[in-house]
Amino acid sequence: MHCLISLRYSSTSSCLCRILVLLAAVVAVALELNTSAMNVAHAAYLPVAFSENYETTGDFQHTQMLDGEELAVNLVLDQSSAAAFGSKGYFLFGAIGMGIKLVPGDSAGTVTAYYLSSSGDRHDELDFEFLGNVSGQPYTLQTNVFAHGVGGREQRISLWFDPTLEFHTYSVRWTREIIIFFVDDTPIRVFRNNEVLGVPFPNAQPMGIYASLWDGSSWATQGGKYPINWNAAPFVASFQGFGIDGCRVVDDDIGACAAGPVYAWWNAPRYQYMTQQQVAALQYVQRTHLFYDYCTDRNRYPIAPRECRRNWYGTV
Ligand SMILES: *[C@@H]1O[C@H](CO)[C@@H](O)[C@H](O)[C@H]1NC(C)=O
Ligand SMILES: *[C@@H]1O[C@H](CO)[C@@H](O)[C@H](O)[C@H]1NC(C)=O
Repeated sequence: MHCLISLRYSSTSSCLCRILVLLAAVVAVALELNTSAMNVAHAAYLPVAFSENYETTGDFQHTQMLDGEELAVNLVLDQSSAAAFGSKGYFLFGAIGMGIKLVPGDSAGTVTAYYLSSSGDRHDELDFEFLGNVSGQPYTLQTNVFAHGVGGREQRISLWFDPTLEFHTYSVRWTREIIIFFVDDTPIRVFRNNEVLGVPFPNAQPMGIYASLWDGSSWATQGGKYPINWNAAPFVASFQGFGIDGCRVVDDDIGACAAGPVYAWWNAPRYQYMTQQQVAALQYVQRTHLFYDYCTDRNRYPIAPRECRRNWYGTV
């Protein structure tokens, strides 16, 4: 057997051994890449029955199971009621997300919200809010971060696809050091742990996971210019992917999640940062799809909030 990587004293068997080691390394790298790709968002898409992890928080007419296995759910908004559901448990860290298909057609005035929130005063909250539009005009995706009761961190982007045609995954990776908002595999926002600057970071309050569809006529669409058109009701948004890849807080034992259980991949050092590809993708989104950022709104914040200035992209 001819060995490509022959060393001076290599025998056939050590050569074979060398090749095997190389092969193993290649496979390991491939697996590694795959694992990290998976961990980005898709754990959130596990086809788990709705009632395993979630419950309706409004009346049952406005939350409709789409099939016997409860793998997809509709929220229905009409003049009689808004609609909502929420997780049964509270979580501290993880990759949390859901597949959502937004209200089609004339969705002006409607707001579809998907968010994490803790309860009580000084709450933490991570928001995706989809602001509907008149027929043919694009949705706006507004994100926000509340830490210890303080929000006012809105960013608004347009999407690069029609979010009413298919399910897309909207998720957050939430670790001790970083929060990344994703649309499918694309990072659209990052909020780092900047406690060293005195900026609070959501890392001590477990959050529930919520979805709702409601009437935001007074502000949602082009600043409230287009209120909801009830002739187009009922408005329907669909949700799927009810698995939750997060650390569930049991018996208020926050420490068990904060310390980082062994199975929690998100505690690994490399998940505290974005990859170079993710940084590039985020910068692309910010250049091409971001049209409002609280960090650059000098009417509102004459001095940019502290977290806006530091290491914004979350790389090492
Ligand atoms: C990586 O993932 C892709 C698709 O997700 C799959 O087709 C491929 O077989 C995976 N490779 C390895 C080495 O697991
Ligand atoms: C609705 O469409 C208009 C015109 O294209 C756009 O300016 C606006 O940002 C869109 N979204 C909302 C929520 O108003």
